[in-house]
Amino acid sequence: MAASNSVRVGIVGSRFQADCIAGAVKAIPDVAELVAVASPTKGNAAAFAQRHGVPHAYTDYRELLKNPDVEMVSITAPNRRHAQITIDAAKAGKHVVCEKPLCITLEEADAMIDACRKAGVLLLYAEELFFAPKYVKAKQLADEGAFGRVHLVKQSEKHSGPHADWFWDVAQSGGGAVMDLGCHGIAFCWWFLGKPKVQSVYSQMATQVHRDRTEGEDEAVTIIEFASGAVGMVESSWNRPGGMDDCIEVFGDKGQTYADMLMGNALPTYSEVGFGYAVEKAASTKGWTYPVFEEQWNYGFPQEMRHFARCVRGWETPISDGETGRTVQEVLYAAYASAGQGRKIALPFRPKGVAKPIDLWKRGQE
Ligand SMILES: NC(=O)c1ccc[n+]([C@@H]2O[C@H](COP(=O)([O-])OP(=O)(O)OC[C@H]3O[C@@H](n4cnc5c(N)ncnc54)[C@H](O)[C@@H]3O)[C@@H](O)[C@H]2O)c1
Repeated sequence: MAASNSVRVGIVGSRFQADCIAGAVKAIPDVAELVAVASPTKGNAAAFAQRHGVPHAYTDYRELLKNPDVEMVSITAPNRRHAQITIDAAKAGKHVVCEKPLCITLEEADAMIDACRKAGVLLLYAEELFFAPKYVKAKQLADEGAFGRVHLVKQSEKHSGPHADWFWDVAQSGGGAVMDLGCHGIAFCWWFLGKPKVQSVYSQMATQVHRDRTEGEDEAVTIIEFASGAVGMVESSWNRPGGMDDCIEVFGDKGQTYADMLMGNALPTYSEVGFGYAVEKAASTKGWTYPVFEEQWNYGFPQEMRHFARCVRGWETPISDGETGRTVQEVLYAAYASAGQGRKIALPFRPKGVAKPIDLWKRGQE
């Protein structure tokens, strides 16, 4: 049962990430409740509302924004839509939780931050890795000094490729695996190391497997040099069958730690007949598999939404906001430019007139 001071959430979008956010909000009824959903495909918002017990469903998100019940909007629409929906939500006086990546261009990031600041609403950047319990524990150990001076942080996220067509269309997504998955690792390394200044970025990108489906990169290694001297290394791949994989490694002069978020928390399982669900993007449940439990909790989604709801009430200060998203966006730009030019790119890096980050890679290859 929702508490009377719980933050009233409206979700824009009704598919993959919308279901995830709905699950997260329903897990924290003491601080948040779902009151509305908007999604353009006929019937989808209504079906979502029924699935999650949401009282109001709209096909146009601008109608949701008119609903005075909604205090905080969670944007789970494709990347290309993030900026406009954020700006409209801010103008309607709603706090915004925006899914990753924040947007497509740095100009959009500036406009989103500006609109929210002017409207006096929060712009919260949904990077759940800041809340994933295993990764939070690793950071606590690092901050306590367990590893001495941390000089290398690695994050990798790999799966067999996105579930929806728009991810593969770079006009809508802005880029491939680095836009989609690399944004997590960039944010993670930066956060883990205490949000230091980014000095330079080097990235190696390729379309190894999915040339028939996308112009985007499906595999990349990105190296981030921080002003502190520490290095972040991010592996992003759409070429790994067998289900989602998300791991970190942390190295200091006094020790190291490793965390495997999914397989490391799963049950090594063998089944000849298969079963319903093992892990996100696993094509089969027959033979040896790694079924996860408490999947959303292990990712940190309910913890993230709890933090954001408490920020809206003024009980906590955001650890992931519009500026976080913009920092990630600048590193994304630098990563694509680096892959295009075959060299390190120094930050600050704010090239003008970039329609989408991946153009910086393609332009360099011409
Ligand atoms: N944090 C994470 O780990 C995570 C995981 C998956 C997706 N995401 C992000 O969430 C966003 C959505 O991804 P998804 O996987 O849910 O995609 P999806 O294709 O499954 O769902 C997108 C939803 O947005 C709706 N939509 C499309 N255009 C719209 C518009 N103009 N206005 C309102 N709604 C619109 C679609 O109808 C659909 O309901 C993306 O930005 C993605 O990067 C984040």
